[in-house]
Amino acid sequence: MAKALEGIRVVDMTHVQAGPVCTQLLAWMGADVIKIEQPGKGDVTRSQLRDIPDVDSLYFTMLNSNKRSLELNMKDEGDKEVFTELVRQSDILVENFGPGVLDRMGYTWEAIQEINPKLIFASLKGFGPGPLQDAKAYENIAQATGGGMSTTGFPDGPPVVAGAQIGDSGNAVHLFGAICAALFQRTHTHKGQRVQISMRGGILNLCRVKIRDHQRLDHGPLNEYPMDEFGDYVPRAGNASGGGQPGWALKCAGGGENDYLYVVIQPQVWKSLAKTIGHEELADHPDYATPGARLPRLIEIWAMIEEWTQTKSKWDAFKELNEAGVPCGPVYSTKDIMEDEGLHNEGMLVKVDHPDRGEYVTVGCPFTLSDTPVEITRSPLLGEHNEEIRQLLASSNPKLEAAGAQ
Ligand code: COA
Repeated sequence: MAKALEGIRVVDMTHVQAGPVCTQLLAWMGADVIKIEQPGKGDVTRSQLRDIPDVDSLYFTMLNSNKRSLELNMKDEGDKEVFTELVRQSDILVENFGPGVLDRMGYTWEAIQEINPKLIFASLKGFGPGPLQDAKAYENIAQATGGGMSTTGFPDGPPVVAGAQIGDSGNAVHLFGAICAALFQRTHTHKGQRVQISMRGGILNLCRVKIRDHQRLDHGPLNEYPMDEFGDYVPRAGNASGGGQPGWALKCAGGGENDYLYVVIQPQVWKSLAKTIGHEELADHPDYATPGARLPRLIEIWAMIEEWTQTKSKWDAFKELNEAGVPCGPVYSTKDIMEDEGLHNEGMLVKVDHPDRGEYVTVGCPFTLSDTPVEITRSPLLGEHNEEIRQLLASSNPKLEAAGAQ
């Protein structure tokens, strides 16, 4: 059975995290992804955060599955001819170099359109057009400038970055969606287009609810936030829920730093929540029975529920509240995650074999298509596919062979 993107070839000029995660998704959907790497060096992540000497790091192997690696020196004229031929024979080019790098290599959007008018040319940068457009960016810079950091953490503490890599891996998903849309449009227009994404813009998209709250400030306090006084910006809300229902992380038995259960008070199950925690008298009490009545008492209510959760493990508390229909979730440590059989069974944690490092666990594809099963294969060694890709390109361009493809 053909996969969703079978027959699509991707020139992968990405590095670090944001770009490689996008092209890994394209590869999992069946595209032939050819990663261009600097000869002898490769993607900087191959050697960053290494856990085993001289072996490609987990940072690299977990972001570059199912790809082929071709070393090309983009400052060498012969290699640039190979690259030009590859662009000619491909459908998508993805890059996340610093601003202007590809232009300096001679591959402007105009030049690329001349080489292959059907090519979708996708770029991820730190910032969109404007004063910051020439600035480099990393994950936390995107979180700082896109509204993520100022709204994360507790009100009496400093701004905090999210552990989830929303600037890199989060934006990779934005980029993947945009490329797929462009690919679909090409089926009608028969021509490529420019796809551009800024990491800061992507963070802002994910901070949408905070911009909602900013505009609510003009009309009174944000009652679901854990404070009474507000300035002219949205404060850090600790663990308050960003949705319409109040939520908080509550301590459970065990005393470990992740022995917490996140509980949401959903109006329709207030009675069963009150009953489960042993406060049936509050089920119909006028001071507690409606969302409006509960809002000014949230701190007191969290303390009451926590008195109950602290008598149980996070798993038992989860089970009981879940059975009562209360939305809640235990806080999983990375150890809990790695030991979760369900995640292994559903393919979100996958064992992969690697010639240099042996077996390791990677994170699987976060979505499933019934007609495109994902089979995760290991990341390529640096230049592992030099010969086969050069031969493939030379077979349809004999001039290239003469120019040094071997
Ligand atoms: N052959 C020859 N040279 C190559 C090459 C190749 N195959 N691949 C890259 N290079 C060169 C580039 O030409 C460039 O040289 P130049 O500045 O002389 O033109 C150089 O490597 C560095 O490229 P750059 O992308 O600017 O890397 P950097 O290490 O200085 O910066 C980032 C890294 C991530 C900050 C930057 O790439 C960036 O801001 N990217 C956009 C946002 C982003 O993706 N951030 C990271 C998210 S994980």
